[in-house]
Amino acid sequence: MKSNIKPAEGKLGILIPGLGAVATTLIAGVEAVKKGISQPIGSVSQMGTIRLGKRTENRRPKIKDFVPLANLNDIVFGGWDVFEDNVFESATNAKVLEAGLLNTLKAELEVIKPMKAAFDKNYAKNLTGTYVKEGTRYELAQAVMEDIKNFQAKNNCDRVVLVWCGSTEIYYEASEIHSTLEKFEQALIDDDKRIAPSMIYAYAALKLGVPFANGAPNLTVDIPALIELSKITKTPIAGKDFKTGQTLMKTILAPGLAARALGVNGWFSTNILGNRDGLVLDDPDNFKTKEVSKLGVLEDILRPDENPDLYGDLYHKIRINYYPPHGDNKESWDNIDIFGWLGYKMQIKINFLCRDSILAAPIALDLALFIDMAKRANLSGIQEWLSFYLKSPQTAPGLPAENDIFKQLIKLENTLRHLMGEDLITHLGLDYYEDLVEDVIS
Ligand SMILES: NC(=O)c1ccc[n+]([C@@H]2O[C@H](COP(=O)([O-])OP(=O)(O)OC[C@H]3O[C@@H](n4cnc5c(N)ncnc54)[C@H](O)[C@@H]3O)[C@@H](O)[C@H]2O)c1
Repeated sequence: MKSNIKPAEGKLGILIPGLGAVATTLIAGVEAVKKGISQPIGSVSQMGTIRLGKRTENRRPKIKDFVPLANLNDIVFGGWDVFEDNVFESATNAKVLEAGLLNTLKAELEVIKPMKAAFDKNYAKNLTGTYVKEGTRYELAQAVMEDIKNFQAKNNCDRVVLVWCGSTEIYYEASEIHSTLEKFEQALIDDDKRIAPSMIYAYAALKLGVPFANGAPNLTVDIPALIELSKITKTPIAGKDFKTGQTLMKTILAPGLAARALGVNGWFSTNILGNRDGLVLDDPDNFKTKEVSKLGVLEDILRPDENPDLYGDLYHKIRINYYPPHGDNKESWDNIDIFGWLGYKMQIKINFLCRDSILAAPIALDLALFIDMAKRANLSGIQEWLSFYLKSPQTAPGLPAENDIFKQLIKLENTLRHLMGEDLITHLGLDYYEDLVEDVIS
């Protein structure tokens, strides 16, 4: 089989609801790379390599040279926010990147001005932005569709994708109005408050056949109505919550402990952060959304139900504390109580001094590039192979998520090999190992 992915010709528009710390760090980073003053470090699509064929073949191209992704020079950014600041101003306020670097990119960043947001303050009580659209939810969805079409025409984009980088919304669960597309569309007309703002963007995008990825933990596209729409319009979707910082560490470490059959009976995680994300998460209703997204990871990897002797007593606690002096430089602490041979206890302590948006920006880039490619490969609906990037991966209804980052990477790489007509890699090797040994001894 050879690949039948359509080539990445023309410009790709990346439209972002929420031009805050993550989005502006992404945009500034891509502009810096385009100018040749930096490298896209942390972006697997740009810097990562992929093995093809047998180990003896020594084929290991960069992923961007293997699959037809949009070139960074062909990307145009746009977005929405509840604040009117342009991307230069917003990046300056976010204080993730140094002023010197931002000034070098000022011309490119200040021309990107947000469009008015589809917003409902009930979903983020600690936000006081006023740059918002007026109207019922149905009218807001129509307005967002117009924004997308206008942006595409004005910037001469061949294709567009949406990546939600907006604030975490308050905790909500799917209800009757989210259960079918018909009910969802009626609820839009009824201006039903149970439709979250992020769902309005997602609906508008999917209606136009524009791929949508969700970087926050709110449900958004993870409801039957929007999954249904994504299948009707043959549009790929992915979510949810960028896997950065503490959860990244968890999904690296926990599979290792499980692989060695070591027991875990306690994992206490706490964070201090002082950016706007932290301020929004300071509200208990918004924190709950994040907590649920972060909590599932360990249980999914360790599976206490399958191995009660090792993980049956697992006590997992997560705290997020708003602490302004740290800004975007989040600090996380993990105390992990483990036990080994004959039940003897041990402890692991992790103190990760990370930079949240520095870890999130390349994930947002990769999700945008891959979900655009997915559309050109005629894939639609939930793209579980992108769960490598996500804290709380969206799966087909009823299917448990795979949170082990190494299995997620194998799935991502094998999906790319499959799409390009290459052999899948099982790491078995028996088919050629004996030949190699015989070559040496003969
Ligand atoms: N930084 C990370 O490492 C990380 C990791 C995982 C997930 N996330 C999630 O990504 C999202 C963005 O994080 P951030 O650090 O950039 O936060 P941020 O507060 O700096 O930016 C979010 C922006 O979204 C805007 N916004 C809120 N509601 C909106 C709406 N309805 N329409 C348009 N704009 C809206 C806000 O005004 C703000 O400017 C958050 O939900 C966060 O939880 C971030």
